[in-house]
Amino acid sequence: LKVGVLISGRGSNLQALIDACAAPDFPAEIALVLSNKADAYGLERATAAGVPVAVVSHRDFPGDKRAFEEAMDTRLREAGVELVCLAGFMRLLSPWFVERWHDRMINIHPSLLPSFKGLDTHQRALDAGVRFHGCTVHYVRTEMDEGPIIAQAAVPVLPGDDADRLSARVLDAEHRLYPQALRLIAEGRARVEDGRVTPSGPA
Ligand code: GRF
Repeated sequence: LKVGVLISGRGSNLQALIDACAAPDFPAEIALVLSNKADAYGLERATAAGVPVAVVSHRDFPGDKRAFEEAMDTRLREAGVELVCLAGFMRLLSPWFVERWHDRMINIHPSLLPSFKGLDTHQRALDAGVRFHGCTVHYVRTEMDEGPIIAQAAVPVLPGDDADRLSARVLDAEHRLYPQALRLIAEGRARVEDGRVTPSGPA
């Protein structure tokens, strides 16, 4: 399965996907890493791994989100991408783009959805007093952080946690979960039926 990874920054989840794809038996390969920021550290990670990169900056399309997204879409299609993985991509995608990649675009979010959609999830989890927090990989729909859930991992909230400690624990879980979810999809074991991902055995 040919994958395109969309990033805006540090790219630690991208790194986890790069590392997973390096295994000879892994059923996916990264055909393109696309960033909307030229200085995203993830671009250096991709280049170091020999993965093709492209930058499509939203700043080159002021006030014209459609043109920005068409430029991204063109790059992805030229690279033969079959599945888009959002990995810390910080622009909201329009319904036009989301529909073009319907059931072919996934995201990782740092909470156990449907709890804590949006930003600042770790502090909000601490403020809510939850005992477990975690991360979710889901198919992308037009509503932010909505869509059929593919995989989740829970981590405990521990005494003395602050947002940094908790986010580091969640991030470790993200780095294990995202490759597992990608494998499920690439093996045809995470299809959407009636708005849900069909049960598919242990990840
Ligand atoms: C991760 O916490 C991810 O869940 C969220 O954005 C962050 C990206 O981190 N969507 P990185 O760029 O993968 O290091």
